[in-house]
Amino acid sequence: MADLSTTYMGLALKNPIIVGSSDLTMSVDRVRQCEEAGAGAVVLKSLFEEQIEDEIRLARSQVSSPDDHTEAHDYIRKTALHLSEDRYLKLIKDAKRTVSIPVIASLNCIRPDWWTSYAVKLAEAGADGIELNISIVPTYLMQTAHEIDSTYIRIVESVRNKVNLPISVKIGPYFSSLPHTARALRNAGADVLVLFNRFTQFDIDIEKINLTHRYNYSIPEDIHLPLRWIAILAGQSGCQLASATGVHDSNGVVKQLLAGAQAVHVCSVLLLNGLGRLNEMLTGLEKWMGRHNFDTIGAFRGRMSMELDEKPDFYQRQQYIKVLAGVE
Ligand SMILES: Cc1cc2nc3c(=O)[nH]c(=O)nc-3n(C[C@H](O)[C@H](O)[C@H](O)COP(=O)(O)O)c2cc1C
Repeated sequence: MADLSTTYMGLALKNPIIVGSSDLTMSVDRVRQCEEAGAGAVVLKSLFEEQIEDEIRLARSQVSSPDDHTEAHDYIRKTALHLSEDRYLKLIKDAKRTVSIPVIASLNCIRPDWWTSYAVKLAEAGADGIELNISIVPTYLMQTAHEIDSTYIRIVESVRNKVNLPISVKIGPYFSSLPHTARALRNAGADVLVLFNRFTQFDIDIEKINLTHRYNYSIPEDIHLPLRWIAILAGQSGCQLASATGVHDSNGVVKQLLAGAQAVHVCSVLLLNGLGRLNEMLTGLEKWMGRHNFDTIGAFRGRMSMELDEKPDFYQRQQYIKVLAGVE
């Protein structure tokens, strides 16, 4: 039987399939179900920076200011305030008591502020690691790419300076030079990069004439963007890599491991079809390894990465020309 074990953020995982941060990991019961379904680890539903701020404001009974009613705060109150700060810490403690797989806490953040000391509380509550979901959408004329990159760096540095726990950073795909940013995040203290954050879909309701935001589940075709970047970054970023979008079956798991991923995060397919899909993915991975005579994941991880390509300088260009030259 193939050995599916791997390390991730310095943690020992029995297999590389992680249930990603989502409603599947928002309660102890659900975390236990993920373990029973075979998950190698779980990333808890995120705690949002705005939630921590809200709680502190409430505790201090401050007179409300206009800042208290930003759209982001309202959105969080309506949609994500199922987990307050204390309940989040309790979730970590209870999950750690209940399951034996690693439990990674998740913070959704946009600023390197005082709130990063909250990371210390996550560590004290027993989290095995912290995932920082950093989603900065550039919206102002005067914001430069350099400033935005350095905000990412400062967030990671400020958490790194406060805790010894392993840190993963979940980012979006929109960087001018992802390899450069990836290395800078590594230097700031990130152990793992999770590629990619899946943003809410921006839309307009033409009857009500207002903005709407939806969250669409991924589809298997969404795998290609993270797959490309994992293959390019593997070996050169200095970080371990995890994929976080579009893995819906064991073929997707195999592809990401061949590209160089240390682990894959999975949500949509489990939300759509149930946790039973996890076992199907593990069985499919094992069968594939058997067919190709691989006893361990290390035996094939990264085989299709740019690092191990015979002509890394042509890695991207070659595929591009091959495909487009054949297109009528
Ligand atoms: C219902 C739902 C809730 C989610 N909530 C979070 C969250 O709180 N924090 C986070 O970092 N990602 C969140 N995600 C994103 C997932 O962790 C994951 O990155 C994304 O769904 C891509 O993986 P998939 O293609 O397997 O769905 C959520 C996804 C879904 C579908």
